[in-house]
Amino acid sequence: MKGVILAGGLGTRLLPMTKVTNKHLLPVYDKPMIFYPIQSLVNAGIKDIMLVTGGNSAGDFLQLLGNGREFGLKELHYTYQEGGDAGIADALDLAEDFADGGKIVVMLGDNIIERNICRAVADFFTQKEGAKVMLKEVPDPRRFGVAEIKDNRIFAVEEKPQNPKTNYAVIGIYMYDAEVFEIIKTLKPSNRGELEITDVNNAYIQRGAMTYEILEGWWTDAGTVESLYRATQLVAQNGANRLE
Ligand code: G1P
Repeated sequence: MKGVILAGGLGTRLLPMTKVTNKHLLPVYDKPMIFYPIQSLVNAGIKDIMLVTGGNSAGDFLQLLGNGREFGLKELHYTYQEGGDAGIADALDLAEDFADGGKIVVMLGDNIIERNICRAVADFFTQKEGAKVMLKEVPDPRRFGVAEIKDNRIFAVEEKPQNPKTNYAVIGIYMYDAEVFEIIKTLKPSNRGELEITDVNNAYIQRGAMTYEILEGWWTDAGTVESLYRATQLVAQNGANRLE
């Protein structure tokens, strides 16, 4: 399976730190943020990776990562999102040719995990079609896409709900078959003017083609001042991307 890392966006919640650089180039403890999702995919056996980025500092990714040799990769693929504020699903759409009709694992560039996604990726490899999301119980579900689950099934995802029905956040690791690109083409911008990944996930749920897995170990995003600070603390205390 191929991997796609979404590392565009304007990073407005981290201003002024993101005024002259991309959020994913900021440090999380001892490494640039983007190192963590690349390592997560590599640890799950994904060697063919495309990075979607945008904005003024897009060229810095090439300088920083090159062909990904540091991660044991032969090469890294890059594509450029014009604008940068059209949403996660819009960024993912740029990976259609790269995916080439196969299944993909998508990771948001500001998501960091303590352990690994090996089992979920292996399960999705044998899943005939559809999609899989990863969930994690969180104390502050209002900040995320929140999953409604019952009897081991996922019924809906609500993006940043006022009154969350559960504490299960849909984290920024998504697995899709090639239908995802057809679904993206049917989406309409949300209230915040973006093509939402939550709408993609709900389309799969409506087709009865969505599975989920609960992530083991800690998880955090790093897209706000608080969560970036927390990410640094978690990595400093426990390390990230443990294989076992
Ligand atoms: C995005 C998604 C949200 C998800 C989160 C995970 O939120 O829209 O559903 O739970 O990533 O990091 P954003 O960071 O764009 O607010």
